[in-house]
Amino acid sequence: MPDRSPSILLGVTGSIAAYKSLDLIRRLEGEGISVRVVATRNALPFFPVLPAEVFSGHPVETDLFNPRRPREEGGGRVSHLALLDKSDAVLVAPASADFIARMALGLADDLLSTLLLSATVPVLIAPAMEEAMYHHPASTGHRKTLLERGVVEIPPEAGPLASGKSGLGRMAPVDRILEALLPVLRTVRPPDGPLSGLSVLISTGPTREPIDAVRYIGNASSGRMGNALARAAQARGARVTLVSGPTDLPPPPGCDLHRVTTAREMQETLESLFPSHQLLIMAAAVSDYRMKDPVTGKRKKDGREWTLSLVENPDILKGLAARKRPGQFLVGFAAESSLDPSLLLEKCRHKKVDLLVANDISRADIGFSSPDNEVVLVTPSGEFRTLPRADKSAIAGQILDAVVAGGWPGHPAPFQENADGHSRP
Ligand code: CTP
Repeated sequence: MPDRSPSILLGVTGSIAAYKSLDLIRRLEGEGISVRVVATRNALPFFPVLPAEVFSGHPVETDLFNPRRPREEGGGRVSHLALLDKSDAVLVAPASADFIARMALGLADDLLSTLLLSATVPVLIAPAMEEAMYHHPASTGHRKTLLERGVVEIPPEAGPLASGKSGLGRMAPVDRILEALLPVLRTVRPPDGPLSGLSVLISTGPTREPIDAVRYIGNASSGRMGNALARAAQARGARVTLVSGPTDLPPPPGCDLHRVTTAREMQETLESLFPSHQLLIMAAAVSDYRMKDPVTGKRKKDGREWTLSLVENPDILKGLAARKRPGQFLVGFAAESSLDPSLLLEKCRHKKVDLLVANDISRADIGFSSPDNEVVLVTPSGEFRTLPRADKSAIAGQILDAVVAGGWPGHPAPFQENADGHSRP
């Protein structure tokens, strides 16, 4: 198990995008990743050193030889190896055309290039430069050399550039950098936590059932609760597979993501993934109905009433519960317009879940399109616990803590100790 939090060495090089590295440091620290920054001399005019030192909690390193650094951190001698000792990966963001060339050539004329020549940990680069530079055969060749050596490129995006022109070359947004980095870090150092080594399958978002080529039956689920659960499970050490209906939210980085549209696609995907997972959280708002015969093409107006004929979709959760093996744990959600305890208990037992998470959809301040939620947890043995209104990520953490506290895996009975705050209806 890891004895410290994951850490990366962030190389910042000479590009206007260096100012964005500050946001990157904050987001990395927010993900529990410790950051040591090494900046090249060309980066310094663009890079807010003092705020970076405050956010990272470490001095920004620029010199190969730094007598002021403590001896255990390489002070008084060439320090690149000591800095690398504490790093699980090196991320160069922004990576200028000049610096990429120096990496490809194996130059070692400053701290960052020297470090990279010694690095045995994964290396990622987020290029930032003018479009013509990015496409120049020299740059293309250097990137190819680096990719062949196993360096991961986080490609730039198109948009306004420092020259005033528009084109490809802006450093990838922080979300995309995290999306590339986090899975790499998880492979090197899986986080330690109560769900370490376990695989968690989470369904999220709405489903869409086509009516004709342009219309569909959907619902207002945003996918926020499922994403929050995915992050909470990752933070507790789990590997997470996310099966997502159509949402506008970016998925949490590092999940194995499967996108689906209809309930039946979601069912097929979940059924194939379920056997290899220990915990299933069914947070998706699955459409209960689909068109009996979807219209081919787009239906034209004809001045008459249009009656849709709907048939029931399969109950995915119930089907999965019937296939549950010992050691697997199922969490279902219930969207209800009233939280009547006997109805909730009936749903929990009928769905054969180990834990039901119920929320009151009649309230405008929580649920579907709100950042907050308030839920009631229900177990098949009839124990209830209210998680008062809070941000969805806080609620997600409490749901997972309830699963863990129940003694799972192996003892799928949350609240079995009937600790304070648990009551019977
Ligand atoms: N669910 C499912 N398949 C469906 C409908 C719902 O797997 N076709 C899951 C949901 O993801 C949720 C749980 O079942 O975890 C309860 O969903 P909910 O909409 O509250 O209940 P329904 O089963 O649809 O029953 P009803 O709407 O009639 O109360």
